[in-house]
Amino acid sequence: MKERENFGSRFAVIMAMAGSAIGLGNIWRFPYMVGEYGGAAFIIVYILASFLLVLPIFFAETVIGRRSRSNTFGAMQKLAPGTRWKWLGLLTIVSPIIILSYYSVVGGWSVEYLFKALAFDFTGVPADEIHEFFGRFISSAWEPILVHTAFVAMVGGIVLAGVKKGIEKFTKVTMPILFVLIVVIAVYSITLPGAGKGVEYLLKPDFSKMSAGMVAAAMGQAFFSLSLGVGTILTYASYMRKDENILASGVGTAVSDLVFAVLAGFAVMPAVFAAGIAPGAGPGLVFETLPFIFNKMGSAIPWLSAVMAIVFFVTILVAALTSAISMMEVGVAYLTEEKGMKRVGATLIVTLFAWVVGILCSLSFGPLSGVRLLGNSIFDFLDKLCSNWLLPAGGLLFTIFVGWKMSRSDVFDEFTNGGTLRANVRLFKVVWFLLRYVAPVGIVVVFATNLLM
Ligand code: PFF
Repeated sequence: MKERENFGSRFAVIMAMAGSAIGLGNIWRFPYMVGEYGGAAFIIVYILASFLLVLPIFFAETVIGRRSRSNTFGAMQKLAPGTRWKWLGLLTIVSPIIILSYYSVVGGWSVEYLFKALAFDFTGVPADEIHEFFGRFISSAWEPILVHTAFVAMVGGIVLAGVKKGIEKFTKVTMPILFVLIVVIAVYSITLPGAGKGVEYLLKPDFSKMSAGMVAAAMGQAFFSLSLGVGTILTYASYMRKDENILASGVGTAVSDLVFAVLAGFAVMPAVFAAGIAPGAGPGLVFETLPFIFNKMGSAIPWLSAVMAIVFFVTILVAALTSAISMMEVGVAYLTEEKGMKRVGATLIVTLFAWVVGILCSLSFGPLSGVRLLGNSIFDFLDKLCSNWLLPAGGLLFTIFVGWKMSRSDVFDEFTNGGTLRANVRLFKVVWFLLRYVAPVGIVVVFATNLLM
C-alpha cells in the first residue's frame, strides 16, 4: 500500500480547495450561463442554490473524506463496508474524469489564447475579427486538439509530481494573483462606454426568465463551480489535518468562489454589451470579449493591452490547471490506493482517457458537429450530463449518506472537532437540518421538475 501524501499546512488545504473550486467554471462558464439564462434572475437562483443545496454537500464530502482518510471508493468501503454505497464511490470517480475530458478542451483554448497574446495577435484587432477568430479556431480540426493535448499533458505532469509539489505549489502562489487581476479587469470593464447595459443585465432580475430548466442549470452551475458531487473535495479533505475547521473551510471556499464568479460576471458582461456581442453567445463569451477589453485598455497605454492579455491568459490557464489537477487526483488516488497501481501508471491511464474523450469533444465544434446526443453536441451533452445530472446526483447521495447513514454523533464529532469548536457546535443543528432535509429534498425537487416540465 502506497503511503498517503498530505498537504503541508491549513493554508495549503484551503488554497487547494479554492484552487479546485475557482477555475473555468467561474471565468468561462458562469458568465455565459448568466447570458444564456437571462442575467440577474439566474444569479439569484444560483446564490440560493449555492448556500442551501450545495454548501451542505461540501460539509458532507469533507466529513466523509476527513473521517475515512481515503479516496472516494475507499471511503465508502471504510464507512459502510459491504454495502451498495461502493457504487457511489465508483460514480464519483467516473464523473470527474469525464469533466476533465471536456474541461481540458477549454483549457486548451486558453493555451491557444496565451500564445496569441504572446505573439501580440490581438493587439489593435477589432472586436468582430476577434469574434470570428474564435469561431474559426474551435471549429478547425487540428489546432484545438494540439492545445488540448498540451493542456492534458501539463495536468498529467503536475499530478505525477504529487499532491504537495504539484497542487500545493501552484495554488498558493496563483490564487491571490487571480483575485487581484479579476478585480482590475472588472473595474475596467464597468467603466467602458456602453457597459451600463451589461451592469444592468447583471443587477436587474427578470423573473419572466425563470423556468425549471433555468433552476436546474443554476443548481448545476453551483455544483460545478464548487467542485462538488464528484469526490474532489472529499479527496482533498482526506488530506486535511484533524484540527482543521470544516465549517470555516466550506464557507471560505464557497464565498471566495461566489465572489470570484460575480467579479468574472462584471469583468465579462459589461464588455459583452460594449463590444456588441449577444450575451447568450455561449461558450466563446470570455474568449471573444476579453481581448476586446485589453485592446480598449491599450488605446490609452499602448503596451498595456499586450501585457494584460498575456497575464490574464496565464491566469486563466493556471486557474484551469488547479481545477483540472483536482479532477485527475480523484481517479489517480483511486487507482493507486485501491488497485495498487504506481502513480505513473495511474496518471497515464486517466490522462489517456481524458485525452481521447477530449478529442471527441473538441471535434464536436467542427468535423463532428453533426453528431447529436439528445439534441446536443458531444461537448454540450457531456457538460450537461455532468453538471445537471451526475454532480447533483453524486451530491444527493453524499448528503443522504452523511445525513441518514452515518450516525449523528460521528458527524457531530467530525464537524465540531470533537465538540471543541464552539461556533461549529452552535451551528451544527442548522447544518444537520440542511444536510438531512433541505439539500436532499431541494435537489430531488429540482430534478423532478426539470424532468416533468
Ligand atoms: N470547480 C471547477 C471550476 O469552477 O472551474 C470545475 C470542477 C473542478 C468541477 C473539479 C468538478 C471538479 F471535480
